[in-house]
Amino acid sequence: MDAGSQSDRVLRVALSAVARLGAEVEVFSGLDLDLPPYHSNAVLPDATRDYVDAVRRADALVISSPGYHGTVSGLVKNALDYLEELRGDHRPYLDGRPVGLIAVARGWQASVATLGTLRQVVHALRGWPTPLGLAINSTVTTFDESGGTPDVSTAAAIDVMAGQLIDFARRWTPPGPDAG
Ligand SMILES: Cc1cc2nc3c(=O)[nH]c(=O)nc-3n(C[C@H](O)[C@H](O)[C@H](O)COP(=O)(O)O)c2cc1C
Repeated sequence: MDAGSQSDRVLRVALSAVARLGAEVEVFSGLDLDLPPYHSNAVLPDATRDYVDAVRRADALVISSPGYHGTVSGLVKNALDYLEELRGDHRPYLDGRPVGLIAVARGWQASVATLGTLRQVVHALRGWPTPLGLAINSTVTTFDESGGTPDVSTAAAIDVMAGQLIDFARRWTPPGPDAG
């Protein structure tokens, strides 16, 4: 949500990297995910439909969270809770989908802890975190408005993660006639 959000910028850089490898991408960030708290039998605001349907169709995901008070931000976790709406799908939750994970915080402790928590959440949603995830310390590595960074090793790591996503998605084609 915040102007100049580093977790948003890294997300967009990662999506550009997978797009260069041939993926069609959709991005949901900031206001797109500013949703009421999820609960069972929630009446879904119309705004959630595009997001939930995009995840339903996706063959791979990238999830990026700022580290807030040591872990995944409430906004990102709440958006992930909305994926409960996919429980009855042919591919429930994130089943069979590779997931690239990005955690950005102003320190290593929170960025690494947040990456670990994202992995746990994705496992719970039956997704497959890529072998390489990104823990980024925004006091060390910054991305400008156009996605540029002087940190060549982080830029290279984003490309590696994008390659792992595409490789997995191509090997694991959807097991049914539709994605739902
Ligand atoms: C409410 C809040 C809590 C935060 N908690 C932490 C924290 O526990 N540890 C940390 O390293 N950074 C913390 N940060 C800083 C963010 O992780 C940092 O700004 C990072 O760049 C990701 O946020 P961004 O995507 O808005 O840039 C916090 C920021 C906010 C707004």
